[in-house]
Amino acid sequence: MSRLVVVSNRVATPTETKGSAGGLAVGVFGALKDSGGVWFGWSGDVVSETVANQGPSLEQDGAVTFATVGLPKKDYDQYYRGFSNAMLWPVFHYRNDLAVYDRDEYAGYRRVNSWLAHKLIKLLQPDDVIWVHDYHLIPFAEALRSEGITNRIGFFLHIPFPSPQILLNIPPHEELVRSLCCYDVVGFQTEGDQIAFHDYIVRHAHGKATSDGQVEAFGRKLKTGVYRIGVFPDEIAEQAERGEARQDVMDLKQSLEGRKLIMSVDRLDYSKGLVERFRAFEHFLEKSPEWRGNVTLVQIAPPTRSDVETYQQIRQNLEYEAGRINGRFSGLDYTPIRYLNQRYDRWKLMSLFRESQIGLVTPLRDGMNLVAKEYVAAQNPDDPGVLVLSQFAGAAGELSGAVMVNPHDVVGMSDALARSLAMPLAERQQRYEANMAALRKYDLGVWRDNFLADLRDVRRK
Ligand code: G6P
Repeated sequence: MSRLVVVSNRVATPTETKGSAGGLAVGVFGALKDSGGVWFGWSGDVVSETVANQGPSLEQDGAVTFATVGLPKKDYDQYYRGFSNAMLWPVFHYRNDLAVYDRDEYAGYRRVNSWLAHKLIKLLQPDDVIWVHDYHLIPFAEALRSEGITNRIGFFLHIPFPSPQILLNIPPHEELVRSLCCYDVVGFQTEGDQIAFHDYIVRHAHGKATSDGQVEAFGRKLKTGVYRIGVFPDEIAEQAERGEARQDVMDLKQSLEGRKLIMSVDRLDYSKGLVERFRAFEHFLEKSPEWRGNVTLVQIAPPTRSDVETYQQIRQNLEYEAGRINGRFSGLDYTPIRYLNQRYDRWKLMSLFRESQIGLVTPLRDGMNLVAKEYVAAQNPDDPGVLVLSQFAGAAGELSGAVMVNPHDVVGMSDALARSLAMPLAERQQRYEANMAALRKYDLGVWRDNFLADLRDVRRK
């Protein structure tokens, strides 16, 4: 089997791939171990130009090489903070109102993609299969192709692909789609994303796209597909159960003093619907006085991309809302919202999920949302909690056992909380079983293997 080369903006460390990182890192590492290969990307460090030009630094773990480079400040600003996270991220999440376009940042985005591609070329072997991840690296294949690289190259988009009317807001939209067409396989999370891409190809690029995913545009032929990213449910269940007896989890349980627990875990991002969620919880407490003092919402929200202005704003808004709602409903021994800006170990989160009665996952827009899947997998089958899920998360297409909500509808979410807290065991179990069946059908291994099978199937040009 030919070697696999994975390229992503962030690269897990060898230690993280042993289980402490998200499931995705473990899944991707599994594929790398099987075929041997390289995981290449940004180290997460901002370094001087001299140091950046010396890289990549290499770390070996069995048959897998971790190759990372630091980014000079200007590159970090233009490629990561700027075009990736102040333009592509908001627009791809349907938030044109928050997008900031700057030509220099876009030029920097393309420049860094070419620079990274050059760095990788030195490590490539002729038969390598290259799998590129996410919106930071849309022009990566084009940069490799312009250097004469003919290897099979696939791309998986972890976030939504917006409908053309939204995408047109990005001034160089055509260049971006042209760049995507330099891949051999382009994978999306949901049918909706794939249809949006095809729609652009047909209506704006005058290309062809068929329902089986064959696309012809900009003088290239490629395949698109839907590959629903998943989790390994049994591993999560085991992790959640093992953690139950650990001290932190016992402490939380004790501090709840028998109150019901609603759990939410998200990066502190405006796409996650956090303000609307807090307001829904407020509405619920307002309308259901019997629940005041008897239910706690734990919101874990580690800060992210804090040098992007929109992220500073969402943080401020949320602090204000948490303070306001807690001021309104707290008692001397009761705080309705425990709002934590910290990162927690994965096992701890899974055990907290297992202790809770509701998992509240209400993004305004989300590619898939693995937290929703992890929440389900972590439940105790004898007494499962209820997943309350936004209809705008990719996961909503699979998790038919969730209580579905529109995250803009504060009253609707508040009703869903009331209903879920009162739900009888038999219904909770039925919903849990339906969700678990979906998780098992499309687990992380299926996602990875289906994508790689399609990529390995491509005939070299
Ligand atoms: C999303 C993106 C990932 C990204 C992650 C963390 O899940 O799809 O590509 O790595 O957020 O964001 P950060 O900016 O910290 O890498």
